[in-house]
Amino acid sequence: MGFTTRGAAVLSAPGQYEVVDIEFEDPGPGELQIKMVASGMCHSDDHIATEDIPVGIYPMIGGHEGAGIVEKVGPGTPGWEEGDHVVMSFLPSCGKCEFCAMGMQNLCNLGATLLVGSRQDGTFRAKINGQDAGQMCGISTFCETTVVSADSCVKVDKDVPLDKACLIGCGVGTGFGSAVNSANVGPGDTVIVMGIGGIGINAVQGAATAGATNVIAVDPVAFKREVAESVGATKSFDNMADATEYAQGLTNGQGADSAIVTVGVLEDHHVAEAFTSIRKAGTVVVTGLGNIATSTVTVPAGELTLFQKRIQGSLFGESAMFRDIPRMVSMYQNGQLKLDELITKTYTLDEVTQGYEDMHAGKNIRGVIVY
Ligand SMILES: NC(=O)c1ccc[n+]([C@@H]2O[C@H](COP(=O)([O-])OP(=O)(O)OC[C@H]3O[C@@H](n4cnc5c(N)ncnc54)[C@H](O)[C@@H]3O)[C@@H](O)[C@H]2O)c1
Ligand SMILES: [Zn+2]
Ligand SMILES: [Zn+2]
Repeated sequence: MGFTTRGAAVLSAPGQYEVVDIEFEDPGPGELQIKMVASGMCHSDDHIATEDIPVGIYPMIGGHEGAGIVEKVGPGTPGWEEGDHVVMSFLPSCGKCEFCAMGMQNLCNLGATLLVGSRQDGTFRAKINGQDAGQMCGISTFCETTVVSADSCVKVDKDVPLDKACLIGCGVGTGFGSAVNSANVGPGDTVIVMGIGGIGINAVQGAATAGATNVIAVDPVAFKREVAESVGATKSFDNMADATEYAQGLTNGQGADSAIVTVGVLEDHHVAEAFTSIRKAGTVVVTGLGNIATSTVTVPAGELTLFQKRIQGSLFGESAMFRDIPRMVSMYQNGQLKLDELITKTYTLDEVTQGYEDMHAGKNIRGVIVY
């Protein structure tokens, strides 16, 4: 039977998000139809529009940081009922593949089709103008109503404010985990976070929560630095050279224990600057993404070997959705994780393009579409 809804899609790339009518199939086995409450506007969706991240099919319906309410449960989908509240993870987890079994749910094999926007078997659930349309990360949260695999969904209590908790499904898990899991920040550490958007602000929170003594935020935009200092950064700079010098001054000339790269469009020199800023056996965490086909990382090999430095990629901050999303929700409820302060502005679905213009203009820590 199916239904018609509205959503923001990139019809061809490079391009921009346009709000269009979308035909969805009813939820099948293992699937849920979800009425969206809110969706964060992560930079990764913009990479789809600019074609820094080319996807398997256009049109691609955007959005991968969302929360909503179950409207319909597909047949044979145990454990779910209409009215359940959901925070979606941008990476699904099957719970039983090799990577899930190793505790790396972020690397679950279900991730293979996320940038095609289809289900595992290559079929699509949405159509635009009669043509198959991809769903960003399989969830397309830039829709008034979407159909997703239950493997992307974490049930939360009904008193959790979904218009805030939506951020946990990408930005919080990615940023917080980049510090806590990937950089393995510990008490007393000196940490540099390079790029204070929706991801970096959570790396700041993660580093502060993990007990870092010095959390140094770097961003060219003054407003971002102010917000960083309000959620745990101890100092901020508008460039890496000054941050590096400051970190060295705090560490007997050695440098930061870790530097977390969360810039919006990753370029080679960003990682090189972070690499310079860390101490012997320090860690650079690379979380930001640039053009995924052409961008590379170049660091001085002598320093890599002789100073035993480490470069660590990080997907969703190595978060395990079924462990970490409930934890982050409860940290928010207990006042240990700030979410309200990260949402600079809310938008209607029709204002999605404005939201991304504001992101590029450096006006938002995070813009959120509220339905
Ligand atoms: N690895 C993952 O799992 C994952 C998940 C989500 C997003 N991402 C990526 O993380 C990156 C950040 O996403 P976001 O939504 O926070 O983006 P954003 O645009 O909101 O924030 C990026 C920030 O970087 C700052 N910046 C730019 N150049 C800089 C520089 N040279 N030094 C310091 N700061 C600089 C910008 O001013 C901006 O504040 C994007 O590339 C996104 O695609 C990765
Ligand atoms: Zn994201
Ligand atoms: Zn799995």
